[in-house]
Amino acid sequence: MQQKLAAGNWKMNGLSADLEQLTLLTKAHPSPQCDILICPPAPLLHRAAKAAKGSLIAIGAQDCHANESGAHTGDTSAAMLVDAGASHVILGHSERRQDHGETDPVVRAKSEIARSVGLVTIICVGETLTQRESGQTLDVISQQLAGSLSDDISAQNTIIAYEPVWAIGTGKIPTLDQIGEVHAHMREVLITRFGHEIAEMLTLLYGGSVKPDNAANIFAVAHVDGALVGGASLKAQDFSPIIAALDAS
Ligand code: PGA
Repeated sequence: MQQKLAAGNWKMNGLSADLEQLTLLTKAHPSPQCDILICPPAPLLHRAAKAAKGSLIAIGAQDCHANESGAHTGDTSAAMLVDAGASHVILGHSERRQDHGETDPVVRAKSEIARSVGLVTIICVGETLTQRESGQTLDVISQQLAGSLSDDISAQNTIIAYEPVWAIGTGKIPTLDQIGEVHAHMREVLITRFGHEIAEMLTLLYGGSVKPDNAANIFAVAHVDGALVGGASLKAQDFSPIIAALDAS
């Protein structure tokens, strides 16, 4: 069985006072069946990890540099993230691909250094609206998986998130059939490349406008093992019903 994961991506939101959301989540979910991950912005990582200590909430980062260390002003290395208390890192989010020109080989290089220091990498893939409308979705997903994943991944160190770019922060979500089609396709592509043993254990997340009122339906789709949640992860009152829906799925 894949490990289920409810992951929250705070993006460029949150100050220290917002870490009380972690306390609220811990109180609401003292013994969750699924894994819970919060990815706050980098300056909050250390405090978030301290706040989450002793709870079942893991703390993750939203990006890392592909190099081990050196002259890269403003960047953060994978080892620094571990030092700050992170156990996971999101890589290749479409906002990074768009805002920072990240390509599949860059995502792959970042993931290799991240895994070398023990981080679990959450690799994001997803089509734009133009790509979907021109019938390229499955090809785009195949290409991104082929380019972003290294040959030596395992289900313990890698998670994949399908995030249609046009569904992120827009309130629009694909139909459940469309989500199911992409997730089944991803599982097939992964089986072909990595074999049944690894591919069937990999956790596959859906991300893009997951909310308390659509989460249960999304989690009922085959091969959806959890969610990567942006806006609705900022407040415990919104994220908590999503965690509960995943636990119940
Ligand atoms: P959203 O973001 O839930 O706000 O649409 C999802 C994501 O970008 O991971």
